[in-house]
Amino acid sequence: MEDLEKVDPPLLYPDYKSTILRSPTKPLMIVKEHLKDLSLPVFGESMVQKYDNDLTKNGRINGEPLGERIRVSGKVMDEDGRPIPNALVEIWQANSAGRYIHKAEIHDAPLDPNFLGAGRTLTDSHGMYSFYSIKPGAYPWGNHYNAWRPNHIHFSLIGRQFEQRLVTQMYFPGDPLFEFDPIFQSVPAHARDLLIAKFRMDQTEPEFALAYEFNIVLNGKNKTHFE
Ligand SMILES: [Fe+2]
Repeated sequence: MEDLEKVDPPLLYPDYKSTILRSPTKPLMIVKEHLKDLSLPVFGESMVQKYDNDLTKNGRINGEPLGERIRVSGKVMDEDGRPIPNALVEIWQANSAGRYIHKAEIHDAPLDPNFLGAGRTLTDSHGMYSFYSIKPGAYPWGNHYNAWRPNHIHFSLIGRQFEQRLVTQMYFPGDPLFEFDPIFQSVPAHARDLLIAKFRMDQTEPEFALAYEFNIVLNGKNKTHFE
């Protein structure tokens, strides 16, 4: 019977080739109960700069970045739905043409001189976060013949407890590449919807940006899956 509580993909998923070499070869160790209460560093406002949560501005050199402006926002919570304030939320993504600024990047789509593709913010006292960005493009990634990643934004979160650490990806609704992407397919079928942001017409900003909602649960049975 399928374990409905399981939302993480298997550590070894051969269709996603990188997992063959990086998955553990020895049994995992259980974190001792008393270590789970260890406090993580608390992040203060001072570590986040003015435009860190606005990727339409934090990489500008001589103009606006190209592409479809979006606002991504949501709530970071624990398994009981309680908000997690002061969680550090970091994101990184390709530009609108599907290109990263990275020395190992092989895709020959154009760089955008006004788009960095990385940002960070802290959740507020209600566990809420938000970013402005540009909708990322799909890109080829060499996992297999004609492999393309669906549009996605990478997220890294550090909450307030040792276990409240998450690295994941946010996807966009209705992407035709879902069924061909082994990273997305490695997530148990019942948990995939948790990774797809909701389009929020009511949160769009007229004449400026479309809006998506992406809520994140840091532990427990409803948690967002670990990449
Ligand atoms: Fe990516």
